[in-house]
Amino acid sequence: MQNPIIAALDVPTAEQALKLAHEIAPVVGAFKIGKELFTSAGPDIVRRVRDTGAAVFLDLKFHDIPNTVAHAVAAAVRLDVQMLTVHTSGGRAMMQAAEQAAQATVQASGRAAPLVLGVTVLTSHDAGSLAEIGCEPNVGQQVERLARLAVQSGLRGLVCSPLELAALRRMLPAAVQLVTPGIRTGTEKADDQKRTLTPRAAMAAGASWLVIGRPIYAATNPRLAADAILASLA
Ligand code: C5P
Repeated sequence: MQNPIIAALDVPTAEQALKLAHEIAPVVGAFKIGKELFTSAGPDIVRRVRDTGAAVFLDLKFHDIPNTVAHAVAAAVRLDVQMLTVHTSGGRAMMQAAEQAAQATVQASGRAAPLVLGVTVLTSHDAGSLAEIGCEPNVGQQVERLARLAVQSGLRGLVCSPLELAALRRMLPAAVQLVTPGIRTGTEKADDQKRTLTPRAAMAAGASWLVIGRPIYAATNPRLAADAILASLA
């Protein structure tokens, strides 16, 4: 089994990120670099994390006109990331352009195209806030609608909450990869995640990858915490 743990490097500086990355690289499958770290440390942080030998998930959630997103995806691919995110609400043409740019940019390099993951409905939304921006207020229905559109547009993966896993697995082709945050082991404090599953339960519900932040980076010993999560999946 490939190691499905994606450790979120949700720390503000390159120094903190690299210390953590070197410590846990042997026991995780990939690192997630998000908006805070990328904005403060720059693209060089991607290269330096890649130097640990681990895969990188660049979570910048692109959402713009197709041409702009295609160029941003191409730039991310040139940084040699293995996964990246776009907002599915950017629409069919934008997602097609993103996937096409990912495929075209790796062609000369011989590398595999990175997984372009679609983000459906942010978990910070509820019926009221969706209605306010003119969307279908039923969160589950909106997630399913965007997930279907993402797959029709050629995306090979989606980010989804643990509680959406079962419904998406039922309706999507089995090859679609589902990447799931909101993972808690039950031993740490709840933080701000309200809808969580344990690593084992999320895998059983159909997750392909688990995004895990605080349960690893905020642990007294991140290496031991990641080790224990991996062992819980065996
Ligand atoms: O610390 P924690 O395990 O909650 O971190 C989860 C990571 O997944 C964070 O980087 C967070 O931004 C991201 N995420 C999330 N919920 C979503 C989408 C992304 O927690 N719906």
